Parts: sequence; C-alpha cells; structure tokens
Amino acid sequence: MYRTHTCGELRIGNAGQRVTLAGWVQKSRKLGGMTFIDLRDRYGITQLVVEADADADLVEKATSLGREFVIQATGEVIERQSKNPRMATGDIEIRLEEINILNKAATPPFTIETDTDGGEDLRAKYRYLDLRREPLRKALELRHRMAHEVRNYLDSKGFMEIETPYLIKSTPEGARDFVVPSRMNPGQFYALPQSPQTFKQLLMVAGYDRYFQIVRCFRDEDLRADRQPEFTQIDCEMSFVEQEDVLNTFEGMMRTLFKNVLGVDIPNPLPRMSWFDAMDRYGSDKPDVRFGMDIHEITPMVQGHGFSVFDSVPYVGAIAVPGAAGYSRKETDALTDWVKRPQVGAKGLVYIKLNADGTVKSSVDKFYSPEELKAVACEAGAKEGDLVLVLCGPKRKTQTQLGVLRLEMGGRLGLRDPKVFAPLWIVDFPLLEWDDETQRFYAMHHPFTAPKPEHEALFYSNRKEDLEQVCANAYDFVLNGSELGGGSIRIHNADVQKRMFEVLGIGPEEAEYKFGFIINAFRFGAPPHGGLAFGFDRVCALFGGNESIRDYIAFPKNNQGRDVMIDSPSEIDDIQLEELQIKIDVKD
Ligand code: AMO
Repeated sequence: MYRTHTCGELRIGNAGQRVTLAGWVQKSRKLGGMTFIDLRDRYGITQLVVEADADADLVEKATSLGREFVIQATGEVIERQSKNPRMATGDIEIRLEEINILNKAATPPFTIETDTDGGEDLRAKYRYLDLRREPLRKALELRHRMAHEVRNYLDSKGFMEIETPYLIKSTPEGARDFVVPSRMNPGQFYALPQSPQTFKQLLMVAGYDRYFQIVRCFRDEDLRADRQPEFTQIDCEMSFVEQEDVLNTFEGMMRTLFKNVLGVDIPNPLPRMSWFDAMDRYGSDKPDVRFGMDIHEITPMVQGHGFSVFDSVPYVGAIAVPGAAGYSRKETDALTDWVKRPQVGAKGLVYIKLNADGTVKSSVDKFYSPEELKAVACEAGAKEGDLVLVLCGPKRKTQTQLGVLRLEMGGRLGLRDPKVFAPLWIVDFPLLEWDDETQRFYAMHHPFTAPKPEHEALFYSNRKEDLEQVCANAYDFVLNGSELGGGSIRIHNADVQKRMFEVLGIGPEEAEYKFGFIINAFRFGAPPHGGLAFGFDRVCALFGGNESIRDYIAFPKNNQGRDVMIDSPSEIDDIQLEELQIKIDVKD
C-alpha cells in the first residue's frame, strides 16, 4: 500500500493516527528551523511538517525536495497551531517521520497553483501539468458527474446507449468534414461524423425506439471559445413521438441535471419562445434572457422627419440601456466606434439620452422635437435616466447588430451573472434559409428536419416567399445566450424527403450518392421519430460558470485547431503516403 489516506481526507478527528500519504510537492518552505511541505493529489492538499529537532537525515531530505517531486510521506496527524479555514484539511498537519522520494521532477515551466503564472500557450504545451491545477481538476470532475447523471436519467427513461461508427460518409450538418484516407481503397476517403445523425435515424428504422450516446463529433469549422473541432454531444433519438414528447423528456433531463449537480430549480415548464420573437426581441436565435433591454422597432415613428439615414432603410430599432443617460460624448463616440467594428458591422449609431431631470439630448436633435424624441425613447422602453441606442438597416441584420450591442451593454452593466440560469426553448424555426450568394435554399437545421404539417401547402409551393415562411418542427435549448442543444422531428416519409431535396437543389443523383442508404432504409418501415443533441462541453462549461469550453475538455485544441502538446496536425512520412497512394502538393 502506497498510502493509507488521500491528501484531501484527513480531519481533526484523525489526530493521533499514523498515516502515509503519497503525492506531488506543491511547495516547501522553511520557517524558524521547521520545514513545511504542501503535498497535493487529486483529492486536495495536506500540510506536512518536519520539526526542527527531527532526525538530521529527514531534515536534509525535506529541504532537498523540489516542486512536483513525487513522494511518499509517513507521520502522525496533529492539530495545527495556526489553522487554515480555507483548506478542507486546514485543521491538521502531519508531523513527518519518514520521506520516500518516489520520483524527482524537472522544474515545472509554471507554478501549479490555482492562480498560475503560465500563459495560455505554455500551459497548453504542458497540459498534463495544467491538469494538476485545481480549477481544471474541478472542471473535469464536474464533467464526469454530469455524464453520470445524464446516463442515469436516460437509462431510467428506457434509453439505450449504442455506439455508432467514426469512419463514415459525409454527414449533413453543414460544416466541413474531416476526412481520413483509406489504404485499402486507394483514392477514397472516410469522413468523420459531424454528428451521428443518419445512424441514429437508422437505429429508429431498426426499432431501437429510444437511443442515446455521449459521443465525439468532428467539424472542420472556425473555432471560438465555445467551439472545438472535436467536441462531445449527448445525442438522442426517439420513435413514436411528437415535438411535445421530445421537449418534455429533455427538459426533464436538464431539470434533473440542474437539481442534482447544482441544486438549482429551473422553471417547470420551461419558457418557450418562437424563433421570430427571439429575433425581433433579442436579435438572436439564442437569446440571453437573464436581463431585459429588449429590442423595439421604431421605424414608423422616426421616418418622414427629414433624416435621410432613417428614411432610406426598411428597419429602425432601439434598445434602452438602464441608467446610462450620463454617458459622456466621449463614451457615446466610443460606442459608435464599437458598433462600427467588423464584428458588429453597423454603419453608425444614434443615441437619445432621457435625462433624469426629464430633458432629452440626442445626436439627431435637429430632426426631431424633444417631445418626439421622448415618445421614441418611451417606445424603446426607456425610463428617465436611460440611454436609448438606435441602429438601422435591413431588418434581420439590424436586429442581429442590436442583439450584439444589447449583450455588450448587459455585460457592462453586470447583468450577465454566470450564477444566474435562464434556460428556455426556442421553437418554430424557419425550415429553410435563403443564401443570396449561391441563390439557393439551405436547411436551417438539416435536410431530415420535417416541415410543420400545417405548412405543407407552402412547402410544395414554388414561390420563394412561400418557402421562406415554412416553419420546421425544430427546437433549440438555449441557456444564457448559448445554444446548448438542438433537434427536430424528422421526415419519415419518402415523398416529403424527396421534396426536401428538390427544394434544396439536391438532384436525385446527388441525393442517391450522399444519402441513398438512408432513403433506401426509409422504404422498409421508418417509424415517426425525432430527437436532439446537446453540446455536452457547452453544458458542462455553463454549469461551471464559464463561457469557454476548453477547460472542460482534458486535451483541447487551440484556436488554430492545433494540439500544441503533441504537435498535431503534422506531416506524415513518405512510406505512409505511398501506402495511401497520396501525393502532397501544398499550395501557398
Ligand atoms: P447541432 O449541429 O445543432 O445538431 O449540434 C448540437 C449541439 O452541439 C453543440 N455543438 C458544438 N459544441 C462544441 N463545438 C462545436 N464545434 C459544436 N458544434 C455544435 C451545440 C449544438 O447545439 N444532429 C443534430 C442534432 C439533432 O437534430 O438531433 C446536430 O448535430 O451545443
């Protein structure tokens, strides 16, 4: 036995016991002839002490210990003179009798403590050292706990966990595929799954009724704080269900997670908002509803007053920022620059200050009377003391910009508290999205998503305007401005699927080549079915109070999609290329 206890375990009740611990030396320091050592393992930190009058060899050994040495230490648990209430083991220390150095360690490139001095790149290179730090350990512990709760819940509802393959054919999620060359089939490639979408639908055809899988997905897309090229989904599918059944089942799962992991009660039932409302009120299909500051359309009130900027656009919208009427000229100028950044993309910003004394001040004073400005400010939801910010342009684009501005202002006012949770469902998504560049429709979710039955006539219309109005039986689970999950009721009828491909401009040959296997399977009795997938990394990060998912993944990639620890991706050697019959011709 290497140890009798862990480093997080001993309490005052253990005083007097002789114990052996094993772990890493976090730090050691000398104080008036005594040596104190902080010994760390996965469970915590325990203070070891070598008394000034201890055996000379022991004192010598204790002083020779470097950071991150792996040691085994034996001694007696004693009550501490000066207790540390911030440590679980802070009431005791171990008076050492023996130290056994199990392994020495090179000096770590950064200090392995909660607040480290290592920059991001350095910590990524030495990820195994970073993982020794408490914040990362806690993040992975949370992830483990969540996975356990998910499995328990879904098992209790009759879901079966079934694995699906990784070496497959392109999936229809809309990102780029990662591909893998096949040695045995020269010139041919597997695609890694962007999700198990088609396989879970095939499992429904196979009769497996309730499927789930905590599964890795791969997408070659631009990376952000909440996006990794390989990430994990809680992927689910059910047969003989309608949208209501799916929403209730997974609302139940999230409710259980919130209760069992965080001790938080979320509303029952969860609020639902249509995609159209979300866009109109929050300028986002993943609204952060922890705070108000809703977007209000003011187009009819501001047009026809000689201000050509407003007169020449289809939409003018505003938000009222509480208590910000005191913004100085410099501050409103800075905000104007902020909305003009490419990330926001607005052409300019108009403001109206509804001052606390009842007066108004605006950047467009010239065109509107104070009464008109007040009326606009009230329409935008402003009270005295508030600052109204106005953007204009094409409707959805302007709403999206107002949405970004709203989040920024919410953040500045401290309204986005990570400990407050405001989950909701977004429902009634449009089925299709028109792309001006390629002049064609794309599936907003994916091509297997069913149109709402009441929109069938529109779905079979050949007019673009009609098709734009078709809603899908699709839904997203949104938490605090983040899309945690999404899914839909699927098409299970071959004719509807054929029509969907037609609308998407996917010809019969292309449909056969890409999805022949699933179209064929649907000929053999596909049950009505639907499902969804949660982004597990995102769920964990938000539960942990973080927007970045990186700390919730043991070995993540950086923003360039690189694993700097193992230095990947990297070139492969000529023999491998020859076996694969691949020639490399890298273009600059
Ligand atoms: P979707 O593409 O919406 O749906 O993905 C589901 C959820 O996965 C998470 N997610 C990601 N997380 C981290 N990094 C990424 N690159 C990334 N991409 C997506 C999001 C998202 O809500 N097959 C469908 C589901 C279905 O219809 O059942 C699908 O994959 O949280």
